[in-house]
Amino acid sequence: CGIVGYVGPKPALEVVVEGLARLEYRGYDSAGVAILSDGKLQTEKRAGKLANLRAALEQNPRSADGIGIGHTRWATHGAPTDHNAHPHVDNTNRVAVIHNGIIENFAQLRVELEERGCKFRSETDTEVVAHLLSEELKERGDKDLGAAMRSVCRRLEGAFTLVAICEDIPDLVVAARRNSPLVVGRGKGENFLASDVAAFIAHTRDAVELGQDQVVELRPDSVTITDYDGAPAPVREYYVDWDASAAEKGGYEYFMLKEIVEQPRAVADTLLGRVAVDGTLTLDEMRLAPQELRQISKIVIIACGTSYHAGLIAKYAIEHWCRIPCEVEVASEFRYRDPILDRQTLVIAISQSGESMDTLMATRYAREQQSRVLAICNVNGSTIPRESDGVLYTHAGPEVGVAATKTFLTQLVACYLVGLYLAQVRGLKFGDEINTIIGQLARMPEQVEKVLSTVEPVRELARSLADAKTVLFLGRHVGYPVAMEGALKLKELAYMHAEAFAAGELKHGPIALIEDGLPVVVVVPSREGRSVLHDKIVSNIQEIRARGARTIVIAEEGDESVRPYSDTLIEIPAVPTLLQPIVATVPLQVFACELALAKGNDVDQPRNLAKSVTVE
Ligand code: G6P
Repeated sequence: CGIVGYVGPKPALEVVVEGLARLEYRGYDSAGVAILSDGKLQTEKRAGKLANLRAALEQNPRSADGIGIGHTRWATHGAPTDHNAHPHVDNTNRVAVIHNGIIENFAQLRVELEERGCKFRSETDTEVVAHLLSEELKERGDKDLGAAMRSVCRRLEGAFTLVAICEDIPDLVVAARRNSPLVVGRGKGENFLASDVAAFIAHTRDAVELGQDQVVELRPDSVTITDYDGAPAPVREYYVDWDASAAEKGGYEYFMLKEIVEQPRAVADTLLGRVAVDGTLTLDEMRLAPQELRQISKIVIIACGTSYHAGLIAKYAIEHWCRIPCEVEVASEFRYRDPILDRQTLVIAISQSGESMDTLMATRYAREQQSRVLAICNVNGSTIPRESDGVLYTHAGPEVGVAATKTFLTQLVACYLVGLYLAQVRGLKFGDEINTIIGQLARMPEQVEKVLSTVEPVRELARSLADAKTVLFLGRHVGYPVAMEGALKLKELAYMHAEAFAAGELKHGPIALIEDGLPVVVVVPSREGRSVLHDKIVSNIQEIRARGARTIVIAEEGDESVRPYSDTLIEIPAVPTLLQPIVATVPLQVFACELALAKGNDVDQPRNLAKSVTVE
């Protein structure tokens, strides 16, 4: 989501809408503003692109005072409709609020507020904040919006960034930051606020980054930052020397680089609120009753491209944990071969965009055959989840780069959650293994962070291979789909021939391809539990090396057994085998991206590819 706030001498509407336009690259499904016009609070919001909001504003022209807030929304709770778009207002229509993130205890707060007579006008978690602020303000004689915000924040659970204005205090914008980013832009006699400096660098380059759990009070001549208890808080001030387009990319040259780095966050957000401390999973939002899930006799996963690779990995996890047979198929093949489906079949449609035509047509076909369809999707309210029986959203945030990165990792997380949840509702004994997995899943954001901090040698390696004609990828078990994803990334970004094989299949043909100096990337399974697999792949590495291959080995840290046979050894954290794809994919993304950059390719918009393909 994008946030913009302004207070100063200029008519705020223009400043805010212009700021939102600068955040447009983030992608969103609705937009809205709240301003004071002749001292009266006015809001305007529209589903769809910013152009829809602009048209609505033109139809209903109004003067704007020097205060306003704006928002572009990437829906999480509630579909992307005019109603659910931000800002949200209280029942007196004097307080307006915008919000990024998720308020986990909103359902409970909503019940309390409704009991006290509040009327809700949207399905969002955000609206509770407007009503809570209104109540707090009343208690404070309608004056201290900062104190009201601090008090409300102390009652909220989850990750949120909030911005509010109140009609009775025409020179004050208040914002609170927990997790999602929030930056203040300091001007002369005016101040700005945004989720990203891109929104205000046309006006000022003096920025202040808010820390976790801080509240800022923004007036034309002052910026006051405190913690939730009102004590002054330490902040980081800096000067933005990026140009406007670099600013949109958070200082990175390409969105893809930014999105790779955002992965720990994306994984954490996708786990958020879904796993309780005791390991119980809550996925009520899936809209599939536990009763139905208990009756499933078969699972079929359909998807395209990178999403298909997530499905292949899901099969290993689901069959192992749930003992339900699970097939995986590329969506474009599925409906043309007369697949066997019935009421007891759960079809899982994985699609980042929710719009891929192949997956959509396969989804429709499955429903015609009476199967239940669960969508795993990153775009709230898109077509595939709308046409499915249930949905589990990944919370990767908008992905701009055409080649999927952070959405892949979050799809894996979502698949694991579905598998663990199925095991849970079907009453399968939660032995030690499952408990370990749930505990380890929670640690994935830090593990991915660790991988990212050690990938520099991968970049060097990639640059040294820019002239290679072909790269092969080998894996076993879940490492096989990871190898496929590594090869796909290289094809997509570096326009290079790349192919993945199951390492055991090598001897049945592909080994004839090995020649002197041929780069072969090998994903080595973790040593935990399945050491037989591990040992087998060590033999495979020896076989190809003996035939001249240049071996690039991805193995868990401390695995000395592969070192003697690795021309390059890339270490990843030791995690349970089934979760290894989350950490093992990251170096492959970096490898492909860096190699493509070395060749001078545009990694955000590779030739011939589209982010979502809406033709069959
Ligand atoms: C396109 C993209 C791929 C993506 C595939 C599936 O081909 O270029 O990166 O993996 O579509 O997209 P979806 O949105 O359904 O996951």
